[in-house]
Amino acid sequence: MHHPLSIENVAIVGATGTIGQTFLELYLNTTGKIPTLYGSQRSAGRKIFIRGHEMEILPFDENMARNHHYLLLFTGANFSSVWAQKLAKNNGYVIDCSGFFRNARNVPMVIPKINGAAALESGKNLICSPNCCTVLLLHSLWPLHGTLCLKKLFVSTYQSVSGSGKMGVAALQEELAQPSYPLLVPSMNSPYSYPIAHNVIGAIGAVNAGGHSEEETNIRTESRRIMGLACLPMDVCCVRVPIAHGHSMAVGAFFKKNFSLEEIRELFTQSSLLKFCEETIPTPIQSLQSPLCSVGRLRRSFLHKRAINFWITADQRLFGTALNAFGIMELFAGEKIGGT
Ligand SMILES: NC(=O)c1ccc[n+]([C@@H]2O[C@H](COP(=O)([O-])OP(=O)(O)OC[C@H]3O[C@@H](n4cnc5c(N)ncnc54)[C@H](OP(=O)(O)O)[C@@H]3O)[C@@H](O)[C@H]2O)c1
Repeated sequence: MHHPLSIENVAIVGATGTIGQTFLELYLNTTGKIPTLYGSQRSAGRKIFIRGHEMEILPFDENMARNHHYLLLFTGANFSSVWAQKLAKNNGYVIDCSGFFRNARNVPMVIPKINGAAALESGKNLICSPNCCTVLLLHSLWPLHGTLCLKKLFVSTYQSVSGSGKMGVAALQEELAQPSYPLLVPSMNSPYSYPIAHNVIGAIGAVNAGGHSEEETNIRTESRRIMGLACLPMDVCCVRVPIAHGHSMAVGAFFKKNFSLEEIRELFTQSSLLKFCEETIPTPIQSLQSPLCSVGRLRRSFLHKRAINFWITADQRLFGTALNAFGIMELFAGEKIGGT
């Protein structure tokens, strides 16, 4: 059984990063409390000012980090591979947002609304948050699956550069500032192999022998695992697009049961985490800093009478990651104050 720990004495590791900053804002706004902030040696001593609070970034220190109720890791797979399990030997909860543990069966990968109960029963105190695309996708599908039973999925993603952290945003900004067009090579510290400004890159992560990219494989594996649908037929295509923030997806979903589009609208509308758009097309700009995932362009598929197509978009930093991590914290605390 899990031991509840209150949502205080929270620490953010990677507090200067894209997700660390998003989570810090969310935590301050929701609780009014100041968390402990850790960064690398590069940012140690730096001061952060938010909402009248001055906070200092501390260099990450194992001994200090042992003492928190909740330690949120927003650093990267290398850091998590070294530290997460060591830190979880202490009493507090470690919530890892890197990809390092997402294939580890002994580490619960949690979207609280979907598989939170099983994570609580596991008694584990090292928990990981899934890929942000998995979070968007499953929040849109879960209400439909409960009534209509998913049979097959096709998903195409349109992912912003902040999905690659600070380096992705810097690369886009640097390349957009170049006077020459088109650029033939990416900017110096770009995380991408191709220019991203005025461009679209049709794979995210390394492509395996079967032709599937790392991101595609991850979204498929994670979705099946979290929904408990180990054999769900599912194809994913992941694409990087030249926008700063917000991920979007075109989803094709096949179901076992018959439905009317009106029923689907109703299911989307009933979910407190979705914003169903009837007349307008949801865009990443409209979703910026929104705690909801927008759903629109609902239509029946030409391929099968029990299939639909729709479009979703959300701020992946907030909806896809920070709110999910916050929700995991709430789950283990047994308190509900603002996560998903
Ligand atoms: N960006 C997204 O949309 C997204 C979505 C889901 C999951 N994630 C995951 O969340 C994690 C953070 O991503 P991000 O986009 O926020 O990356 P980011 O913008 O590059 O930030 C990385 C953060 O990690 C810190 N850091 C790096 N090495 C460290 C060390 N040795 N000790 C302490 N801090 C260290 C950096 O500190 P300095 O500033 O001092 O370098 C920075 O604060 C990654 O695992 C990523 O895969 C990201």
